[in-house]
Amino acid sequence: MWTLSGGNKCNSSQIFDTIQICDKIWFMQIDILTLFPQMFESPLTTGIFKRAVDRELVQVNTHNIRDWTHDKHHTVDDYPYGGGAGMVLKPDPIFQAVEALKPVGLQQQGADIMPIILLTPQGRLFSQQIAFELSQYSRLILICGHYEGVDERVIEHLATDEISIGDYVLSGGELPAMVVADAVVRLIPGVLGSETSAVDDSYATDLLEYPQYTRPPEYRGWAVPEVLLSGNHGGVARWRREQAVLRTLQRRPELLNKASLSSEEKHLLSKLKTLAE
Ligand code: ADE
Repeated sequence: MWTLSGGNKCNSSQIFDTIQICDKIWFMQIDILTLFPQMFESPLTTGIFKRAVDRELVQVNTHNIRDWTHDKHHTVDDYPYGGGAGMVLKPDPIFQAVEALKPVGLQQQGADIMPIILLTPQGRLFSQQIAFELSQYSRLILICGHYEGVDERVIEHLATDEISIGDYVLSGGELPAMVVADAVVRLIPGVLGSETSAVDDSYATDLLEYPQYTRPPEYRGWAVPEVLLSGNHGGVARWRREQAVLRTLQRRPELLNKASLSSEEKHLLSKLKTLAE
């Protein structure tokens, strides 16, 4: 009997069948600590999450931080020491919630086992690269901050990572947690319809994605580029790559510094740059 990473059990012949289909069996559990679990109801039961959960590739649990308070008002926040506007999330309910989620025996284990990520505008800036890193773990804990902030002891002694989804301030970490979870879950093998679609994505290759068209071949007088209708697969691939380079040059030129380009593409790029001057 084998135990898969998600805890499911299967016998030798089942595991052999599974290995034949994919060389790695993926299962990820994401636990989200929040004051507003109801915000996650719709996103987690539709689209990418529903598909991943239905395929038993992912389990996403939301936990109300308030459930780990023990006073009669279920207090989760308090005034900041030293004064100032707003309230600060207390450390104890968050520590208790995380400790309850850590498997017995792993209480002392660090980020290498299970990243504990605080969503905060002060965190490292989220990117496709970070989504890929996180997709390699079988468990993640996401903590949604709120109010004016979170007691610093959560940051220093509990969280193993802090992530920001951009240089703007939202009213809480819930939307950022959904952004991070979505970007990570779609990278888990088997979640997307085709294994290649995540590879082609903008940012996965440091180039923006090429333009896409569907039927009809002509709409309001605007025609689909000839090459896409030609059935010439090599031609289509070349056109797409060129368009990706061109689009990146026009919209996000700084990405080209780290993109890996063939010598032909580098040549094309310098020609395009000269034309643009
Ligand atoms: N909480 C509030 N704003 C945020 C942001 N930009 N990223 C992550 N968490 C946040």
